[in-house]
Amino acid sequence: MAPGSDRNGHEGRRPRRRRVLLLPLPYHGHINPMLRLAAALHDRGLAVTVVHTETRAPDRRSLPAGCELVTVPDGLPPELAASDDIPSFVFALNRNCAAPFRDLLAGALRQEEEEDGGGVACVVADVDWFAPLAAARELGVPALALMTSSAARFRVYLAYPRLCEKGYLPVQESNMDMPVDEHPPLLVRDLQVMMDTSRHVAYASLLAHIVAGVRQSSGLILNTFNAIERTDVEQIRRDTAIRVFPVGPLHMLSPPATAATQKSSLLPEDRSCLEWLNTQLPGSVLFVSFGTLASIDADELLEVAWGLAASNRPFLWVVRPRLVRGRDSVELPSELLEETRGRGRIIRWAPQEEVLSHPAIGAFLTHSGWNSTLESISRTVPMICKPCGGDQLGTARYVCDVWKVGVRVEVEDKLTRGGIQAAIERLMDGIEGGVVRDRMREMGDVVSKCTMKGGSSDLALQDLVDFIKSS
Ligand code: UDX
Repeated sequence: MAPGSDRNGHEGRRPRRRRVLLLPLPYHGHINPMLRLAAALHDRGLAVTVVHTETRAPDRRSLPAGCELVTVPDGLPPELAASDDIPSFVFALNRNCAAPFRDLLAGALRQEEEEDGGGVACVVADVDWFAPLAAARELGVPALALMTSSAARFRVYLAYPRLCEKGYLPVQESNMDMPVDEHPPLLVRDLQVMMDTSRHVAYASLLAHIVAGVRQSSGLILNTFNAIERTDVEQIRRDTAIRVFPVGPLHMLSPPATAATQKSSLLPEDRSCLEWLNTQLPGSVLFVSFGTLASIDADELLEVAWGLAASNRPFLWVVRPRLVRGRDSVELPSELLEETRGRGRIIRWAPQEEVLSHPAIGAFLTHSGWNSTLESISRTVPMICKPCGGDQLGTARYVCDVWKVGVRVEVEDKLTRGGIQAAIERLMDGIEGGVVRDRMREMGDVVSKCTMKGGSSDLALQDLVDFIKSS
């Protein structure tokens, strides 16, 4: 191709940017990292179209600058979108969106032929989008998958059939504390909360579809970094024989949230909590949040609340709608509110990344969602882990036992206020807390090095961009 000409050999025309179509799964914890990837790819010279389902489509203004938004019909009943039956939701999305996505992509390719140059170089879809990944392949467009959770969790996906064959799964009361020999440091209890047989079968089937889709794709993008998950990343490379790009933490590779990108929030952010944090001593406040999907029982909520009260520490607690299973709002006992008046602040939704960056924050009581974990590590805030299910169980194991940047809330039969209080004291007062904070500072340096120019994540991202541009 002559210099100054486009890839079809038309001279004198400035080549347009190659375009990437990004397809996030419509859950906040999946949309956010995909949008951060969108911003990073756009910054590195690619044109970006975010293709979203009509269900939970983000506000157009919430997209990173320069990125386009296109929605595809999904025909999903709102009850299914609101239910916690994730396998049924994801299967229905794949069924209903495959054809509209295929039409959209085919249309973009026809336009490319007519207009010469630019054009769709690649599709990047959440690993859960196995049908659109297949549609892209059928149309001859390279398709990459994005795993928004950890590399370790993706290894569990890969190993799922074997874990079932060996009797680890479905998890049973009797085998909970058995080590998973193939996957140290995980115990069987870290693989999954107990599920009834029909849910177990549906989940196993979903994972089989996901893994098959990824294996046939042109590569896997991981929101992780080598310094914490090198072994898992290498193992995935060996097991799948596809390209693997560990480019995370994605929230560090793209520009920080602006007022516009904050519109991608699930709920309006309560920014007054930042002013309240300004009035608190450095390192004194415990931030408490259980992410976007996790739900707990009303009894557990009370145990958390009384544990926070007993800790005698200032705290900022996100109690979002449906945190308590099936309830849009909760009322806490007035004596509890009285006891924590002035030192306890309860809000519906926080600007979490900003909160974690605030010098007043000393620790994070978290459900161990992968985004929250990465955000905490990048802000060097040590964690108190209270995982609620899914990937959170394994992530908490790595945080507490491998990276040692957090402590676990001990739960015997059920969650207790004593367990919450003890974990807060271990981390915020005890000698163990000092060791954990030192480890977290070291981890903070490591993650900064990975994401700065020439670091492993920066190089992986460049590798990804080069791959897309040469497609
Ligand atoms: C689930 C899984 O547990 C997680 O591992 C997977 O990657 C996505 O789905 P989720 O409940 O969404 O997780 O938690 P998490 O991954 O931690 O993501 C929550 C996101 O919401 C974070 O980016 C966090 O900053 C944001 N958030 C949460 C806010 O901005 N404000 C809040 O008040 C609470």
